[in-house]
Amino acid sequence: AASTVRPRPKVIVTRRLPQAVETRMAELFDVELNLTDEAFSQGQMADAVRRCDVLVPTVTDEIDAGVLAAAAETGRLKLLANFGVGVDHIDLSAARAAKVVVTNTPGVLTDDTADMVMALILSVPRRLAEGEKLVRSGEWRGWSPTGMLGHRITGKRLGIIGMGRIGRAVATRAQSFGLTVHYHNRHRLPAEIEAELEATWWDSLDAMLARVDIITINCPHTPETHHMIGAAQFALMQRQAYIINTARGEIVDENALCEALAAGKIAGAGLDVFENEPAVDPRLLDLPGVVLVPHMGSATFEGRQAMGEKVIANIRVWADGHRPPDQVLE
Ligand code: DGY
Repeated sequence: AASTVRPRPKVIVTRRLPQAVETRMAELFDVELNLTDEAFSQGQMADAVRRCDVLVPTVTDEIDAGVLAAAAETGRLKLLANFGVGVDHIDLSAARAAKVVVTNTPGVLTDDTADMVMALILSVPRRLAEGEKLVRSGEWRGWSPTGMLGHRITGKRLGIIGMGRIGRAVATRAQSFGLTVHYHNRHRLPAEIEAELEATWWDSLDAMLARVDIITINCPHTPETHHMIGAAQFALMQRQAYIINTARGEIVDENALCEALAAGKIAGAGLDVFENEPAVDPRLLDLPGVVLVPHMGSATFEGRQAMGEKVIANIRVWADGHRPPDQVLE
């Protein structure tokens, strides 16, 4: 109804967004941008959520029950239009209780993130980072029959944890590299999709972990997946196994990962995400067989632009009084 339409909602954006996205937002909304790109303190956050209809946060913002309680003091905040697909930094049950709608940006970063998974799958067993360092050090003595040997990708077994959009896009890419695709997901995929991806479903995560050569994590971080991979899981893996994480650091017990790598329980890791970003466990820095990149799975100009457009679309549909296309709850 007309009374629910908010023609120019007050929108506060917590970080810098691509220029074209900020420009479009300023045309459409009563927008307050963060030109410093410094993450808000919890005090600044509490102040922001008291004063806006819509907050556009990112993974670097902690939208916890305290922030939602501050918002409730004025009751103005109605929409959290997250810039990103993962929403584990938002207390979803507190948002639901406060009747604050949460939206995210699925789909537009699937291919970029799956590409990053492949980049790490190729880099870790083939020692790309070590080789790069060697060339830069000036100590490379030329080609040698036994120099820089890594492990072959073709013919290996890939175990995908989480077969949603990103997991499936990884499976498609993996097929063309000659990897056999295995997956663990709460729900088994329809038979025709399984056939198309030539993917084998494992009901038991532990059973799959014991059987595959490369593990990639592509599920969301939720209370159920928190520390889903810990000491017990590393103990099951093969000594020549590699683990790739582009999802959320908290899905892996980072301490157990460091111990498993140091003890040679697994052969290596490719990490785009960490448990306490931007802090990285210092033990990871010195271990061979580890490739580290700074949470950049979706970091393409095209992807970040498209994520911004999704945020704008979600706000506009909500402002028109309709259910936004990427509503996370219900
Ligand atoms: C995502 O979209 O979830 C990225 O990790 C940034 O939040």
